[in-house]
Amino acid sequence: MAKKSTTEFVCQNCGATYMKWQGKCDSCGEWNTIVEEKQGGEGFSNLNTKSKGKMIDFVSLSGSSEALSRTHTNIKELDRVLGGGLVSGSAVLVGGDPGIGKSTLLLQLTASIANLPNNPQCYYISGEEAIDQVRLRAKRLGLENSPVHLASATDVKDIIATLEKSDASVVIIDSIQTMYLDGVESTPGSVSQVRACSYELIKLAKKKNFALFLVGHVTKQGSIAGPRVLEHMVDTVLYFEGERGHQFRILRAVKNRYGATDEIGVFEMQDQGLVEVENPSALFLAERQGNISGSCVFAGIEGSRPVLVEIQALVSPTSYSSPKRAVVGWDSNRLSMVLAVLEARCGLSLSSQDIYLNIAGGLKISEPAADLSVAMAIISSMTNKPLPPDMVIFGEIGLSGEIRAVNQPNLRLKEARKLGFNNAIMPASLKKDKKNTNYDISIHEIGNVQKLVNWFN
Ligand SMILES: Nc1ncnc2c1ncn2[C@@H]1O[C@H](COP(=O)(O)OP(=O)(O)OP(=O)(O)O)[C@@H](O)[C@H]1O
Ligand SMILES: [Mg+2]
Ligand SMILES: [Zn+2]
Repeated sequence: MAKKSTTEFVCQNCGATYMKWQGKCDSCGEWNTIVEEKQGGEGFSNLNTKSKGKMIDFVSLSGSSEALSRTHTNIKELDRVLGGGLVSGSAVLVGGDPGIGKSTLLLQLTASIANLPNNPQCYYISGEEAIDQVRLRAKRLGLENSPVHLASATDVKDIIATLEKSDASVVIIDSIQTMYLDGVESTPGSVSQVRACSYELIKLAKKKNFALFLVGHVTKQGSIAGPRVLEHMVDTVLYFEGERGHQFRILRAVKNRYGATDEIGVFEMQDQGLVEVENPSALFLAERQGNISGSCVFAGIEGSRPVLVEIQALVSPTSYSSPKRAVVGWDSNRLSMVLAVLEARCGLSLSSQDIYLNIAGGLKISEPAADLSVAMAIISSMTNKPLPPDMVIFGEIGLSGEIRAVNQPNLRLKEARKLGFNNAIMPASLKKDKKNTNYDISIHEIGNVQKLVNWFN
């Protein structure tokens, strides 16, 4: 009988495993990401097939269980993203591009919690930076007097032994890719190490009931480096995003077992660290210049709150054999769809035009409700006719050219009104909502993309 192999080949990008080496990962399509790794190790309790399993007890769904204990971090934007505060015993993965501000955010978070009146014990363990570097940052942020326990360590066994004896409330591991467990025979940052270290740390967090934050690096493709499995192991996954050169940073929940996803927190990176932005719409529209063709304002919803952003399009005759399409902040497939609908239903000829689309301010939008604003920005640029500067637009476009209703139109209108907009183009709603008229904003309902072109005549 063949001896059970003790090594496996693991894709460092997505975590897929293979029996033998191959150049390309079938699962994620990346080249040269598959690396040989030793299996198992002390990090994982191997199933002992000889001992019999115990019986498990089943209970009913009803019954008393402890209410979640949430700590308010004093950083409102962060509390919002976490679903209303930090849950004890939860594991949170924070991903983001290099230098985006992960360490800054988490240092501010620990300091903020450590300063709460009930004296929660906060531990900041850096595997990436030396003590002095973290101290320098703390000094720059004016946090050097906060009662945070700081250490520079990478051996998970030591970390666990130390935390076992502590009464930690919050533990930060910066970053999980620098941690290693002795029993696992592969380099720090490899899929097996990341998985094993996270497993042990999360187990301890549940046992000792502290909130655990793991910092995770992000690959070029924008997913957290190493195993996708890490995202399954934790309770909450937060992405810290932002465009280089912009001050704005957006913290987004992409998974949350204790709250809604797609909730965002908006920060501004300043010398003294990250500052909360209370009114993101005003910030995103700050640099807008009215009366310019190709620009329009989209009234969007991010999580539970409305956010107005400027959408900019530039359409110009192409000098290539196939026209260029470049998108920043939106889905390029979605753009292709909108363009196809405009060509097919409005008779616009776009195949000889380069099209650039930009969401101003560095926000990434995933809502289909932006379709209509994108279409309007494109037509406005093509015809070189500006839209009224006090107009917001939202609506989803279907393949037959129909404009579909989107969720929470009232919230969008209310925010628009608050920021001084007087006109709104939106889907024609079948059920007339009387409340709409209360916002003191003129509503122009559109049922089909064919009507869009009329706006520019
Ligand atoms: N002296 C400074 N003054 C102002 N801003 C600074 C200063 N030093 C750093 N920053 C800001 O902080 C950012 C780096 O933050 P931070 O180290 O928290 O990022 P990170 O996501 O942890 O990076 P890494 O991936 O390297 O760990 C820089 O990009 C810069 O914007
Ligand atoms: Mg860092
Ligand atoms: Zn892969």
